[in-house]
Amino acid sequence: MAKVLVIGGGGREHAIVCALSKSSKVDEIYAAPGNPGIAKYAVCVNIKDTEIDKMLEFVKDEGFDLVVVGPEASLALGIIDKLEEMGVKAFGPKKDAHLIESSKNFAKELMFKYNIPTARYETYEDYDKAIDTVKISPFPTVLKYDGLAAGKGVVVAENFKEAEEALKDMLLDDKYGKGKVVIEEYLEGPEFSFMCFVDGKNVYPLEMSQDHKRAYDNDKGPNTGGMGAYTPLPFITKEDYEYALNEIMIPTAKALVNEGKPFKGVLYGGLMKTKDGIKVIEFNGRFGDPETEVVLPRLTSDIYDAFMAIIDGKKPVLTWDDKYCIGIVLASKGYPGDYKKGFLIEGAESDDIYHMGTKFDDNGNLLTNGGRVLIALGKGDSLDEANKNALKLVNEIKCENLFHRTDIGAKAYRK
Ligand code: AMP
Ligand code: GLY
Repeated sequence: MAKVLVIGGGGREHAIVCALSKSSKVDEIYAAPGNPGIAKYAVCVNIKDTEIDKMLEFVKDEGFDLVVVGPEASLALGIIDKLEEMGVKAFGPKKDAHLIESSKNFAKELMFKYNIPTARYETYEDYDKAIDTVKISPFPTVLKYDGLAAGKGVVVAENFKEAEEALKDMLLDDKYGKGKVVIEEYLEGPEFSFMCFVDGKNVYPLEMSQDHKRAYDNDKGPNTGGMGAYTPLPFITKEDYEYALNEIMIPTAKALVNEGKPFKGVLYGGLMKTKDGIKVIEFNGRFGDPETEVVLPRLTSDIYDAFMAIIDGKKPVLTWDDKYCIGIVLASKGYPGDYKKGFLIEGAESDDIYHMGTKFDDNGNLLTNGGRVLIALGKGDSLDEANKNALKLVNEIKCENLFHRTDIGAKAYRK
């Protein structure tokens, strides 16, 4: 029987831990740092995902059969390289392959070099030059900070003033750190998330899903880390699927091998179905959040076996139920801007509520502890039914400082 460590402490890791808990091969699960929801299934250890040395020390002391890494921050710091050096089986890409996520510029150059369809772009370090470009750009125009910014480093500017403010944040005030900016052509169409298990050049798709990135209903408000998701996707045809797999995901995996940066782990394509075909909006080098929370509950095969197969370069078995699953995120009022923490949460006991940002106080009360706090899941034979089931759970949750979107998946089921 296997002993597994999951690194991370959000909803994505809650979903991974839950899936691992169903494996007949796994009998001990640890999570670092984990969260109060994860604590139902795993021993939570108080080590942050960015405390790499402490984490490696812990792994050495405990001895794990498998370490699964959730957050991009740990991956960008090269935790997989270090675990592999220690001879530990670890699921995730090495630091150089993870550049596909951690550098927008690297991802763009790779896509152009290998003819992978994406928006036109230019990269700027100099504020004045960037301003000169947006002065003559059509609006909306897209500005992306060239680094990790927790899903908040992208601004779709509707006019010059918004673009100027964003460029100030990114290039003059270094809001996300010192870095470059990618200025990109604005594309239009429904977005979707295509996560695939990749072992170097072999690509094994997971079920597709759709995130809802804007804070408020009808895709209004600022971009967030994701306010809800659903799976599968009625608007994706068989041809779309084949195109996304054969013209985007497989060529990207092969390109990374060709560049000497073979990717192992979950390659996440953030794709858009435009009128000129499917194009890449972004790549991530990890499980999506909140997509994982809706996709993994549909997995009917053993996730531990699948992780081990990818690590060992074998074909994983991935089978899915044919249900719809919707996840509605409950976020702290004010998110993705400033928000307060520490509000009491009641009524969130269901196993179908995953924890994204919560903590227990000394008396065992559950409190809000992040921007995105909980995600309530609903399954059903239709999206409408899945949505009703998710909303039922949302309505059971009592907390005075949370808000949620009411239209997750609605475009697909409200005609
Ligand atoms: P990213 O972090 O690159 O996925 O960007 C966050 C969000 O910004 C995306 O999910 C899109 O909604 C929007 N976005 C990014 N790039 C573009 C683009 N070229 N055209 C239109 N919208 C975009
Ligand atoms: N849901 C978007 C992301 O995981 O980056």
